[in-house]
Amino acid sequence: MNWETRKIRKILTTIFFITIISGVMSCEDFKVTQPAVDPLATWSLQTDIQPIFNNNCNSCHGATRSPNLREGKSYTALTNGGYVTLPADKSKLYSTMEGAEHISRSTETDRLKVLYWITQGAKNN
Ligand code: HEC
Repeated sequence: MNWETRKIRKILTTIFFITIISGVMSCEDFKVTQPAVDPLATWSLQTDIQPIFNNNCNSCHGATRSPNLREGKSYTALTNGGYVTLPADKSKLYSTMEGAEHISRSTETDRLKVLYWITQGAKNN
């Protein structure tokens, strides 16, 4: 191999590695960022929490399976059943939603809304 060929190979190798490294680094741009849930916003049972139950929970949690998470029933069932106690992250509702059995039934955003609603006193609002 003559000197010219070796020089060209060296340049090509360098270009190859620069391409790979910059390609890997540009993956940073594609990281999925969770939409922020503001802990200080007011989280409402009617507007924010009940729709989560309607969409993800009520196929199972109706009159026969506790807690009853149906519209109009959820507040009483959760409060009387002791599901929404403080600290919120230890509450039965939140910890069940975070547990292995249930975690796939809601999004992280939904669970944070539930967490903040309980933190704010699990109001019938
Ligand atoms: C496919 C049926 C199904 C769906 C959908 C479902 N659950 Fe459950 N859930 C169960 C079963 C079965 C149990 C009892 C066994 C257990 O604790 O995992 C349970 C238990 C619970 C408990 C604890 C009850 C207790 O008294 O210990 C809570 C709280 C709960 N679910 C909340 C939810 C919420 C909130 C959702 C929606 C995000 C949901 N579940 C969706 C089937 C379901």
